[in-house]
Amino acid sequence: MNTVILTLHGPEHKYTIYLRPGAGADWQRAVADIVPANRYLLLADDNMAAHLALPADGERFGNWRCLRVLPGEEHKNLDQYASLVNAALQGGMDRDTVLVALGGGVTGDIAGFVAGTLLRGVRLVQVPTTLLAMVDSSVGGKNGVNTPAGKNLVGTFHQPAAVLIDPSFLDTLPRREYRAGLAEVVKTAVLDNQDFFTRLEDTAPALAAGDHAALADAISTCCWIKGSHVMTDEKDTGMRQLLNLGHTFGHVLESLAGFNGSVVHGEAVSVGTVLATDFAARHGFFDSDGADRIRALLARLGLPTRIAELGRTADAASDIDVSPPDWQALLGSDQAVRALVQDKKSSGGKVNLVLPHGFGDCRVDKGYDAVTVVRFMRDNI
Ligand code: GLY
Repeated sequence: MNTVILTLHGPEHKYTIYLRPGAGADWQRAVADIVPANRYLLLADDNMAAHLALPADGERFGNWRCLRVLPGEEHKNLDQYASLVNAALQGGMDRDTVLVALGGGVTGDIAGFVAGTLLRGVRLVQVPTTLLAMVDSSVGGKNGVNTPAGKNLVGTFHQPAAVLIDPSFLDTLPRREYRAGLAEVVKTAVLDNQDFFTRLEDTAPALAAGDHAALADAISTCCWIKGSHVMTDEKDTGMRQLLNLGHTFGHVLESLAGFNGSVVHGEAVSVGTVLATDFAARHGFFDSDGADRIRALLARLGLPTRIAELGRTADAASDIDVSPPDWQALLGSDQAVRALVQDKKSSGGKVNLVLPHGFGDCRVDKGYDAVTVVRFMRDNI
């Protein structure tokens, strides 16, 4: 099967997102088919590379060369960016070399930043292997790294030359990471009319179980919805900002937890979406039935819906050995207010929040006092 989900036409770019179930078994050929080139530089998530028995870091294979990317938000930083750029240049890449990002959101974001800045920009193919990357981060050209001051504060817009999605990659994903991606699916559905949200409610058990048909529908619908936001507002000055529903609250929680793996991005987005929804309901923008439906769907998909649940997820597959965050103390600190005003949507110490006013009617509501918003979070642990 060779499904073209959509071709994005930005003001300066046009590229296609392919949904090709099974293509992951021969991803090299699929990439070469979609974007032919003489040389490829693969930036591969280290875990995925081990799983697929890919060549070691720096090794060449045919007209490809492999660089391994350390996954995890704690490695999405300027140090790893610098070592990838240096390794790419030392390997003799030129402007015709196509970069290929194989991995999840961290790999795609850092590879995108490398592709957008190396030699002032080279072509990039995104091959997302996590649900979060398939439904969100691989589409739309945003890239970047975290700094001690916050998430994604350094980066560029650099649209990929193509995106190749094979849902079969998800079969090997740790369950916790898979579930985390479902939070972005639910968030995206709230941005659209109720049809997609209702479909997710109907297919929740299939989605939670990783059913391929339910996934193909969810992934392609998310790419359509995201694609329409990106085409209208590539540089994130208006409609695209709505894709950050749940992210302002979520980023504060991730940042307070310390990017140490105790809270993964999708879990923070899940709780952040509930907080945004409850905040909107509290201010009379959104009806409480809608808020209940969103919370119930996230819970049915196995996602946390309260701050208190974050950092306590039992996960035998991971080797996380950190104490659960003390949310009362963290949300009572100045650090929480600082984390909130560092959000890219904040200005002049005031916080702009994406809030639902209905399904398919989210808005950027401006000018909230940061201390009041943090107090709301602390009152809703
Ligand atoms: N993840 C939100 C965006 O790409 O705009």
